[in-house]
Amino acid sequence: MTAATNVFFLGKGGVGKSTCAALTSVLLADSGHDVMLVSLDPAHNQSDIFERRMSGRPVKVAPNLEVVEIDQDAWIRRYLKGVRNEIDRTYRYLTSFNLEKYFDVMKYSPGLEEYALIMAFTEIRRKHRGRDVFVFDMAPTALSLRFFGLPRLSLTWFHHLRKLREDIIEKRELITKLRLLDREIETDKVLLKIEKSQDEYTRLRDLFEDRQQTRIRLVLNPDQLSLAESTRIVTELGRLHVHVSRIIVNKSQAGSRLDGIERAFAGVPRTILPLSPVPLIGIGTLRRYAGESLGGEARAALLGLTGWPG
Ligand SMILES: Nc1ncnc2c1ncn2[C@@H]1O[C@H](COP(=O)(O)OP(=O)(O)O)[C@@H](O)[C@H]1O
Ligand SMILES: [Mg+2]
Repeated sequence: MTAATNVFFLGKGGVGKSTCAALTSVLLADSGHDVMLVSLDPAHNQSDIFERRMSGRPVKVAPNLEVVEIDQDAWIRRYLKGVRNEIDRTYRYLTSFNLEKYFDVMKYSPGLEEYALIMAFTEIRRKHRGRDVFVFDMAPTALSLRFFGLPRLSLTWFHHLRKLREDIIEKRELITKLRLLDREIETDKVLLKIEKSQDEYTRLRDLFEDRQQTRIRLVLNPDQLSLAESTRIVTELGRLHVHVSRIIVNKSQAGSRLDGIERAFAGVPRTILPLSPVPLIGIGTLRRYAGESLGGEARAALLGLTGWPG
């Protein structure tokens, strides 16, 4: 079984991320791929586009296409519950400590949103292993960038945490004068947990950097503001070693100026999608738009999953 392809749609609010994600998913499914469209945007649009009620549970909208809208708050609650159980289990003997206080601090800690999205992302891909393609309708830019940055940031953090833990183990060994250092390091539960997290985040970091498995499609419109935001996205992702694989210029019209876009993203494959005269709502409308308003080249670009560019 070959690894699934993950196609991410990013861009400024309103440029057409959700529409392009839906359109691409329908085209891929119609051409025989097994597709899961996942909305990671807390303000979901897919139920409006497919005119179906959606939830955290996948809804089948076409023979090869299921859509799911991730409930971010539910994932945050799930995460906090997990931490809570862990704290209770690990520190049961510390009853004199006010653990409640620490837990309250956690609830307001920064980073919970992207953490919840990463958890949902990992779980969806695990649960629906075997799909050819996952299409992700992404959250607003700032949150999406934190999502892609989380593996690297966590790895830096775990690196220091691990050193700290190894230090503690060493000191403990000195104090108890036990000559079991090697075995202790092997079996220390906290250290094992740190190592497990390091493995998980390394896999995620590698996945995001892999141009074959990770396709970032940056959607923008022929206007100054979406171009400015897109340029920032490319720069920020570049810092994370994550590459934009295609620029989609959506809502293009006769007379739209594209030279600024061409200059800003020289070398990145580009696909132009015209402004539709009718609202792109409903699977039939999306199919008609693809068939009547898109050229063969644009359709192939949206479908292109093998090789580079994609
Ligand atoms: N190519 C297009 N032609 C016409 N309308 C479009 C096109 N792409 C998107 N739209 C419309 O623009 C609005 C914003 O699109 P949406 O996909 O919700 O953007 P985003 O997810 O980036 O916020 C919606 O009303 C959508 O129907
Ligand atoms: Mg949207």
